[in-house]
Amino acid sequence: MLSEYKISFEEALLNQYAAREPKGLYEPIDYILQDGGKRLRPILVLMGSQFYSGDYKRALSAAKAVEIFHNFTLLHDDIMDAAPLRRGRQTVHEKWDTNTAILSGDAMLILAYQQLEEYEAQLQVALFRLFSKTALEVCEGQQWDVEFELRSDVTIPEYLHMITYKTAVLVACAFKMGALIGGATTEQAQLLYDFGLNLGIAFQIQDDYLDAFGNPETFGKQVGGDIIENKKTYLYLLTKQSDNKTLVEELEQWFSGQPQDPTEKIARVKHIFQETNAAARTQEAIEKFTDDALQTIEQLGISEDNQKVLRAFALKLMQRQS
Ligand code: IPE
Ligand code: IPE
Ligand code: MG
Ligand code: MG
Ligand code: MG
Repeated sequence: MLSEYKISFEEALLNQYAAREPKGLYEPIDYILQDGGKRLRPILVLMGSQFYSGDYKRALSAAKAVEIFHNFTLLHDDIMDAAPLRRGRQTVHEKWDTNTAILSGDAMLILAYQQLEEYEAQLQVALFRLFSKTALEVCEGQQWDVEFELRSDVTIPEYLHMITYKTAVLVACAFKMGALIGGATTEQAQLLYDFGLNLGIAFQIQDDYLDAFGNPETFGKQVGGDIIENKKTYLYLLTKQSDNKTLVEELEQWFSGQPQDPTEKIARVKHIFQETNAAARTQEAIEKFTDDALQTIEQLGISEDNQKVLRAFALKLMQRQS
């Protein structure tokens, strides 16, 4: 079923923009949408709809809206994070230039909204409201993320707030949109939203983990990118709690600048993350937040078969390598 979702979704999404003019606007959009994404969020939209109505096809436009929006955030995020690689290919601002990534990104935000025009008035209002609230929260999360680069006193609650906004709310929104399209009750849709929030938090903590410890062959992004940018990730924050003052001080030294050649910084910081047990504890946190999500699975009002599908999906997500 999950592969059916992905195939149907990609059929609906791909090859719509390549031929549009001006090419300078649409080719980067086609390029970022084409390749290699996991399609996590659209699959969640389709699942949400399927769970409550047995029909996922009606949710395809909302799934496109969410995936186009997600890819828009990636174009701008890669500028903000000075990232050279995405899904194993050059980022848009590297392949073209920053102005292109800004404007193609802006256009994608609008294309995302247009996907929702096809729903009937009452449902459309609910979808628009949720989508706009979510989009603004993502901007807030992104701003916190950038501001934290320059601070050394970020706390774990502040970090959790930041990743909830920059990442988890969109995961939650994807589920809830699907549930609304599938005719779930308000309460069910909200429970699925909360499930998505916990799953999204686990997902971002894992993204932090893979950024440092992912396999460069399969990860698709620059390994160590967060270390180069002095991102206050979960790994960093747990390390700061360590009793090993020497290593904590060394970490702070490395995070107070941006050396021209980051090779040694990346190697030392990864060593410190491991030596202080922060790496292992980060894995535990990923499991904990996934588990928190799964705790509520029986309250969602979905069939036992669908509960199985959802549980398997959440557990599989924890094993991802990219
Ligand atoms: C990357 O999202 C940005 C985050 C919020 C962590 P994904 O890891 O879902 O990226 P793709 O779409 O599969 O490439
Ligand atoms: C991205 O967080 C969140 C958004 C794009 C809104 P990251 O900056 O960690 O995502 P990656 O690692 O570049 O995919
Ligand atoms: Mg980034
Ligand atoms: Mg970022
Ligand atoms: Mg990341």
